[in-house]
Amino acid sequence: MAEHFLVTGADGCIGAWTVRLLLDEGAEVTTFDLAANDNRHRLVAEGAPLNFRRVIGDIVDRAAVVDAMAGVDRVIHLAALQVPFCKADPSGGAAVNVQGTVNVFEAAVEHGISPVAYASSAAIFGPVDLYGDEPVLGPDALPKPATLYGAYKVANEQTAAVYAADEGLTAVGLRPFTVYGAGRDQGVTSQPTAAIYSAVRGEPYRVGYGGVTDFHYAPDVARAFIAAARVELDSPAAPAVNLRGHVTSVDDFVDRVRRITGFDDLGVGTEPLPFAHALSTAGLEELLGHIEPTPLDDAIAETARIVSASL
Ligand SMILES: NC(=O)c1ccc[n+]([C@@H]2O[C@H](COP(=O)([O-])OP(=O)(O)OC[C@H]3O[C@@H](n4cnc5c(N)ncnc54)[C@H](O)[C@@H]3O)[C@@H](O)[C@H]2O)c1
Repeated sequence: MAEHFLVTGADGCIGAWTVRLLLDEGAEVTTFDLAANDNRHRLVAEGAPLNFRRVIGDIVDRAAVVDAMAGVDRVIHLAALQVPFCKADPSGGAAVNVQGTVNVFEAAVEHGISPVAYASSAAIFGPVDLYGDEPVLGPDALPKPATLYGAYKVANEQTAAVYAADEGLTAVGLRPFTVYGAGRDQGVTSQPTAAIYSAVRGEPYRVGYGGVTDFHYAPDVARAFIAAARVELDSPAAPAVNLRGHVTSVDDFVDRVRRITGFDDLGVGTEPLPFAHALSTAGLEELLGHIEPTPLDDAIAETARIVSASL
């Protein structure tokens, strides 16, 4: 029998890649999202059939989440509102990102499903200068979020720890930083991907910030979430780990986009993002096994190819 995965927020960028990789390996997939939005699924599937069961629902609706989890073996929880949306609507952001995650943990306990893989974020850490002479932040470094979104993700991690202790639920939190690749089209860190989209279309574009960030290719992130949903621990726990990507400047990333696409009219801002970028991946391989990040140039070229084919 194929493993049956529930993926929440499945119509988003990471979700679409997660669904594609699961279908490629023959898993059964149920998606849970607000509406039937196939755009990113069609983009990343590149013509492969979209054989999944779709549940339309709101993650804030506890009963809907419990219902969606019936008959499921593995859970990947990605539904969330990103940084700008939480800033624009703090109560709505808290409902989706905090209450929604509680609903997923509640439903998993009710159905006896463990572990749950869920998306935390590098945004739990604040700007570099808040960390003084701590050059590389370990997975247990003190969260100092500079955004509501980051604060809600801290709440998710702390909630997971309480569910592990009180309910015996294992929940594995992954903290991507700047996810890029086909389908990455919303949220503040989508701008490097927007540079690829614009270059492919021959339209000038400027990334509004600069500095150094950690780039994670969306399919690599999807692989990590699938591995996290299969983690087996000796006793219930709530580990949360940083992911391995490519730490480099936005300037370097955009230079690569220019070289690979042959389109030069791309700019980069100067202000860095308010998230520390030097994050240790201690504990990651022990938990998920080795996931080799796709080389940056290969990933940018693949993104440009997929976007170009969709025009
Ligand atoms: N993209 C990144 O760089 C990044 C970095 C760190 C963490 N994350 C986290 O990874 C997860 C996935 O990110 P993404 O880039 O795919 O995001 P995305 O914005 O592309 O997708 C999020 C999905 O969640 C769905 N959603 C929103 N509110 C919902 C609700 N009330 N009920 C059900 N579904 C709802 C949206 O419709 C969307 O399809 C999120 O939790 C995000 O916070 C992303």
